Amino acid sequence: MKVLVATEKPFAPVAVDGIRDVVEGAGHVMALLEKYTDKQQLLDAVADADALIIRSDKVDKDVLDAAKKLKIVVRAGAGYDNVDLAEATAHGVVVENTPGQNSNAVAELVFGMAVLMARNNYNGKAGTELKGKRLGIHAFGQVGRNVARIAKGFGMEVSALDPYCPEQDMIAAGVKPVHTVEDLYRESDYLSLHIPATAETRGSVNAALIDLLPKGGVLINTARKEVIDEAGLKEAMERRPDIKYVADVRPDNADELTEAFAERVFFTPKKMGAQTAEANINAGLAAARQIVAFFRDGDTRFRVNK
Ligand code: 3PG
Repeated sequence: MKVLVATEKPFAPVAVDGIRDVVEGAGHVMALLEKYTDKQQLLDAVADADALIIRSDKVDKDVLDAAKKLKIVVRAGAGYDNVDLAEATAHGVVVENTPGQNSNAVAELVFGMAVLMARNNYNGKAGTELKGKRLGIHAFGQVGRNVARIAKGFGMEVSALDPYCPEQDMIAAGVKPVHTVEDLYRESDYLSLHIPATAETRGSVNAALIDLLPKGGVLINTARKEVIDEAGLKEAMERRPDIKYVADVRPDNADELTEAFAERVFFTPKKMGAQTAEANINAGLAAARQIVAFFRDGDTRFRVNK
């Protein structure tokens, strides 16, 4: 079988070597398409692929139409909003993700960003500390749990909201369960977003919600830009000169926000949360192993399309 690794944002070389070892060790062939700039390059590369490993790369109807032999796509990572699941199902293609494999990397970046804001973008003026501040985690999945673990080390008070997570799991992790999104925002000096981009969440973090943040509140988004109502964010930041927004997922109005709010915002140039050697190895190798298990045993344990 031919396994294509197609990553516009490349894995660390050590992860690519590991993927190749897993794929070739199981008797398959690996092909690599990195840093492609044109969709046509992906369409050409998938033509004879039986399996595909991607990151945030878009897999839409065009890609699925072009991939005549494709049986499985594994998103090496957590969020799979970049894959058209309905089209994949219609094409008879299994879609999987690799939950948890890159979550520590994303969680560590949350604190890189929190400290950056606490210290005023390192501008030399007296900042504040994270110790003793309230951290609200919006969605207590794998990244949220890692964020909670690290926050304890900083001495923060941690609470979380997640209707899909049993309260007992939060309590066991030393996290206070919060029952409404309004209460979470109202009670969080730092609010870390970890909701996926779905029909339900798109644009859901709006001006009214952001306005509930306490004085000096910092909103940290390492999840997806789509969950923010960007016009609403700007509106709330205009009304509230005390709040800050920092994101690893650059908003469409990033330039406008930077011009209007200077040091109250920060955006990474490209999504960096999962961009560590460790996360690349964990997610890349998991993806390769899942593909090997799929061809060997028909294993679809991590399937996300039905
Ligand atoms: C994920 O959903 O796993 C993260 O957003 C990482 O995305 P990336 O692989 O494009 O860095």
